[in-house]
Amino acid sequence: MSIDMLYSYRGFYFIPGALNVVEQCHWIKESLTSFPQPPNRTNHSAFYGALPDLFNAAHKKKHLVEVRTSVADVVSSGSFDASSNTDTHLWGFFEDAVVERSAYSCKSIAASFLMRKLRWSTLGLQFDWSKRNYDTSLPYNEIPKYLCQLARRMADPAMPTGEEFCPEAAIVNYFGSGDMLGGHLDDMEKDWSKPIVSISLGCKAIFLLGGRSREDMPTAMFLRSGDIVLMAGQARECFHGVPRIFTDNENAEITSLTSQLSHQEDLCFMEYIRTSRININIRQVY
Ligand code: OGA
Ligand code: MN
Repeated sequence: MSIDMLYSYRGFYFIPGALNVVEQCHWIKESLTSFPQPPNRTNHSAFYGALPDLFNAAHKKKHLVEVRTSVADVVSSGSFDASSNTDTHLWGFFEDAVVERSAYSCKSIAASFLMRKLRWSTLGLQFDWSKRNYDTSLPYNEIPKYLCQLARRMADPAMPTGEEFCPEAAIVNYFGSGDMLGGHLDDMEKDWSKPIVSISLGCKAIFLLGGRSREDMPTAMFLRSGDIVLMAGQARECFHGVPRIFTDNENAEITSLTSQLSHQEDLCFMEYIRTSRININIRQVY
């Protein structure tokens, strides 16, 4: 990287190996089980409404079924454990056996398929992707205290002197094989002097940090599980993106992670993360 580029990236911090493998596992599990829980929104919310316990439903090979009639019958059969109301639909997770009997159902989708298609969830203040804005009227679960503490501690070197980072929103991105995040700016937060704290978990990715114009040649770097990046100040004005992740054994660089997840009760997490990357980025909005 040239000295000129270093100056244009002032405010960009790379903290390799910031999280140990136990911490990585903790945040992977949280990202899959608790962060997508309603009322937090995910990319599925607009279409299906709330999908409680999606990861668990996928593990149990359940199906999401659109129910139009006889909901009472299904509930009384004891197999109905989740429901949500959108304007015209009611969806719920059902055991395979119920789906086969499909008298009540119109459409059904494997929970495992929806899990693979989970692209983002939001914690704290909910970001509305259609309006590209924070919608403070939406209900949400608070960012967990321990994640706030971690973000505050990590953000410290990038904070204006004497100020403390105040985490208000977090976006969790889920990348499967072949998924990418196009070049973008995060410009919906009020104060760009405050950093975005961005945690990488799971498979290794290529991260591109560009300049203030889309035409500027970006710098490529690897982000591995446990790495943390801060984007503050001038770096907040730079385009960035994730053009690819590596899911093959040799390049994903997650062997310590997968061995940590090799106990029977953790195999579902191992199976997910072997071909996935999770990014948690924490923001001060106001
Ligand atoms: C974002 C972002 C980077 C990453 O969500 O805005 O830039 O490492 N994520 O996934
Ligand atoms: Mn971004």
